[in-house]
Amino acid sequence: MGLFSKRKTIYLDNAATTKVDEAVVKEMLPYFSEKFGNASSQHLVGQEAKRGLEESRDIIASSINAKRDEIIFTSGGTESNNLVLKGLFFHPDNKNNPSSNSAEFEGHRKNHIIITKIEHDCILNTCKWLETQGAKITRLDVDSKGFINLNELEKAITPKTLVVSIIHGNNEIGTIQDLSAIEKICHEKGTYFHTDACQSYTKVPIDVKKQNLDFVTLNSHKIHGPKGVGALYIKNNIKITPLLHGGGHEKGLRSSTENVSGIIGFAKAVKIASNSNVKYMNKLRDKLIEGILNKIPNTQLNGAEGDKRLCNNINICFNDVEGEAIGGYLDSYGICSSTGSACASHSLDPSHVLTAIGLSHAQINSSVRLSISKFNTEEEIDYVLDVLPKIVEKLRKISPLAKVN
Ligand SMILES: Cc1ncc(COP(=O)(O)O)c(C=O)c1O
Repeated sequence: MGLFSKRKTIYLDNAATTKVDEAVVKEMLPYFSEKFGNASSQHLVGQEAKRGLEESRDIIASSINAKRDEIIFTSGGTESNNLVLKGLFFHPDNKNNPSSNSAEFEGHRKNHIIITKIEHDCILNTCKWLETQGAKITRLDVDSKGFINLNELEKAITPKTLVVSIIHGNNEIGTIQDLSAIEKICHEKGTYFHTDACQSYTKVPIDVKKQNLDFVTLNSHKIHGPKGVGALYIKNNIKITPLLHGGGHEKGLRSSTENVSGIIGFAKAVKIASNSNVKYMNKLRDKLIEGILNKIPNTQLNGAEGDKRLCNNINICFNDVEGEAIGGYLDSYGICSSTGSACASHSLDPSHVLTAIGLSHAQINSSVRLSISKFNTEEEIDYVLDVLPKIVEKLRKISPLAKVN
């Protein structure tokens, strides 16, 4: 319906991806036409590209208080997450050589990975695959707001635990975990800590030195940069094995000619991200949440509140109506929403995140995510607050679920 609508589009699916900022596009353009060189080439055009690449690395590094050589560029969050978990597991120092099964060898192997039940699919499915390679995975529960229990984390770590990987800001419900508290437990117990910060990057401060982080996954397309670009922060000298073997780019950890234009765009997106944008998104988020909860009876917010929630995330359970039906109606009004993470929305399985916070099947089916960006306006929020109550009222009138209650 929305495809044929003549109305202005109100894009509220920024947790799935964001519009590329015009300033980002402008910065990228010369790297397609004039500075198009291969950053490994020695000539002028290659060296121009190399300069752009290294300046971008500096920008990304300083945004999280890392050193330039601690940043590896990748094709996105999925690759960075795969790289850290598989790279640690298969590193020869971890003696995970499947051809050796001696008992003595087994003793040196750290094959245990701890994650949560609310990770992004690219962590969940990497771990599922690593189980077929001999890994033991612990999937921590979360409470009704999406927070892990630190005591449970502490108890779960054993001498065999290789790495703890916990999402920073959740993509579905916006809950922000306490990285410093998690880090302390991991390091006291002698295990590495990785966080997937794709949703929180530039929205919640990350300081790898102060927070003593070992690995951080970042990507570009959630922050008004181009798709297909990301980075992995690797604390000095921690050894991982590459996924891609080839010409030895990115210190041998990620062979393939660097996506220079994409990386330039990524760095520009980081450079223009600001605290005032975060404050602005917070204001719009709270206006939308309060407006929905006040205007529409029998609704509840899924996930954490206030500063423990990402500034752009709203996830509401509209009891007794199908979230998909709400999404369809919103689309006909030109409003883009989502009933879960973009990766999972083609799946019929109920959201693993909403399941983990204890929602019933019916509540999960009645939930909708609205995620904002700096490009949304107060007028757009007002418009949503005008049409959404009418949509829900209409749907509840014809809902068999509403009648039985
Ligand atoms: C928390 C989180 N991790 C990882 C990813 C995957 O990132 P990419 O699309 O760059 O591979 C996403 C994007 O949906 C995400 O939200």
